[in-house]
Parts: sequence; structure tokens; C-alpha cells
Amino acid sequence: MAEDFNSRWEEFENMCLNCTGCSLRETVTNTVIYRGSRRAPLMIVGEAPGAEEDKEGKPFVGRSGKLLQNLIESYGFKPSDYHICNICKCRPPENRRPTPEEIKACKKNLAVQFGLVRPKVILLCGSTAYEGFFGEKPVMRDVRGQFIEKNGYFIMTTYHPAFALRNPANKLPIFEDMGKVRDKLTELGLMEPWKGINA
Ligand code: URA
Repeated sequence: MAEDFNSRWEEFENMCLNCTGCSLRETVTNTVIYRGSRRAPLMIVGEAPGAEEDKEGKPFVGRSGKLLQNLIESYGFKPSDYHICNICKCRPPENRRPTPEEIKACKKNLAVQFGLVRPKVILLCGSTAYEGFFGEKPVMRDVRGQFIEKNGYFIMTTYHPAFALRNPANKLPIFEDMGKVRDKLTELGLMEPWKGINA
């Protein structure tokens, strides 16, 4: 079983590494697939790798990533609880937003990833992650902070951590949304109740 999973994971990574779905791979240093656990109850999805992520080959390791990591750890998540990835696995030049065509092309990879990770709760960070999942651009203030239940999955949208880097006051809604995600995982019996940062 574990062997089967590992070989399916390897196949998936090769699929990403050899992807020709769009032209982004032509300019990257690394294809950025995930960090955290390969199987996890929580999947956190961002937009696309930036310069640091491209260099390290891991998602959310730059300034936004550090903020995200602080939020995650403040709710007591361990790496075995989450799988962090992006809608697009390759860095768009100049950190521009991925185009709808690039998002669509990379969705094939994300679908396989989703099937392997089998999360129960999904946290979409920012409007590109929402667009990648739902196929339309959201009005963020209308969609954030509420769970959408779809095919047995609980999907929450929040602001991208970069939004909080621009204005620290924006940290609060992301922190609140992360708390709802944490509570949902407890409600589903997938994590122990959160007892607070000093527990
Ligand atoms: N922003 C993202 O959306 N993803 C990353 O991996 C880093 C920054």
C-alpha cells in the first residue's frame, strides 16, 4: 500500500517535472510541488512560486511564507497536518499573476495531487487560488471566511498572506479564517482541539 502510494507520488512528480502544459517551465529554476506532508487533512493552496520558492523548490518559503508559517504554528499545526502547494507550480516571470490559460494547464497536475493528498479541508489563499478551484474570479471580501462544502470537502477562502504584508491589520482576518479551519479539523475528528498558543 505505502509502496503503491510512493510510486504514484513519484509518477505525479515526474508528471509535474515533465509538464509541457504552458511555457512557464522554460524560465524556472525549480518546479515547486509541495511542502508539508504528502497525505494530510489540510491542503493550503496559494497562487504561484515567487523568487525564493523558485530558488528553493518549495512553496511559501519567502516573506509571505514566513507569515503563513507563523499563522499555522500559532494554531499548533505540525507538518504532518498540512500539505502546502500552489495553483501553478512554476514561477511566472516578474512574479506576475498566472494567466487563466496557465491556471487551466496546471489544474491537471493539481487534480492528481489532490487525489493523492486526499485532504478534507482546503484553505485557498487569495483570489488566484479561488479562481483555480472554482473557475471564476471572486470578490474576496464576499467569499472569505466562509466554508463551501463540496463533494464532502470543506473549502475556505482567505486573503493571500502578501495582503497582510502590505498592511499588518490584514493579518487579523487571515488569523480568524485559519482558526475556523483549525476548528473544522477538530469537528471532523482529524485534529485534537486547539488549546491556545501556551497550552
Ligand atoms: N505566494 C504564493 O502564492 N505562493 C508561494 O509559494 C509563495 C508566495
